[in-house]
Amino acid sequence: MSRTARPIGIFDSGIGGLTVAAAIRRHMPGERLLYFGDTEHFPYGEKSPEAIKHYAIRITNFLIDRGCKAVVIACNTASAQATAEVELTAGDRVPVFNVVDPIAEHVANKWSGHTVGVIGTKGTIASRVYVKAISRLDRSVKVRSLATPLLAPMIEEGFYNNTISKAVIRGYLEHRNLSGMEALVLGCTHYPLIRREVEEILGSGVKVLDPPAIVARHVRGELEARGQLHQGDTPSGDDHFFLSDLSDSFAKSARRFFRRSMTVEEMRLWDQ
Ligand code: DGL
Repeated sequence: MSRTARPIGIFDSGIGGLTVAAAIRRHMPGERLLYFGDTEHFPYGEKSPEAIKHYAIRITNFLIDRGCKAVVIACNTASAQATAEVELTAGDRVPVFNVVDPIAEHVANKWSGHTVGVIGTKGTIASRVYVKAISRLDRSVKVRSLATPLLAPMIEEGFYNNTISKAVIRGYLEHRNLSGMEALVLGCTHYPLIRREVEEILGSGVKVLDPPAIVARHVRGELEARGQLHQGDTPSGDDHFFLSDLSDSFAKSARRFFRRSMTVEEMRLWDQ
């Protein structure tokens, strides 16, 4: 198989990375996707950096062994805690993309001198990855951040768009840590699924950024520059979705996102 026809490997702890996968599909319709959701170890946001590194290395080897031409870490927690290890694992075999760097770049370009909020898992916020990445590029951006640990488990369960989820989201967004923000980074790939609720609560005074689209445009640009983009509107084959622990909620969400033919398989990476 030619290099460009090989799939793009994407991973997350669960369904969150599907928001990135869906954006990649929209921005690169010719690409085939190979997705790994590490549902056995969900939520990553509560795990130690050592555990995340261990999972990320194993998944990266799996994706590369399956012929992926690139690895997208479609999880902020793993991007924060394991990018270096994933890059080391990939070596010069395939390029690695995380979800934090393109967003930090976007914020530095568009929100210079402004106050930007970031919400994410405990792991992501504790790592201060966004504060560091943004201030490295532009010290004039004020970054306000808040860990919102209830959100990813709620979303993974499909528990959103109801009065309880709205109350939980509102409680977080009205926290004083986020006061004065003019834009908000949804710093967890699960959160775009509650984007509408977030926008409703925040109103038009706060711009809610679109991380999956920002990441997909970045990946597209990089693949194109390397001559690795599969041109055209038709992928060279079916997408594949693997889960370390098969779950119904994943299959339902995945079907909502990807209407075309789709196989979801269990892959017990840690039993091998
Ligand atoms: N989707 C993941 C992220 O972007 C995290 C969810 C979790 O496993 O805690 O951080």
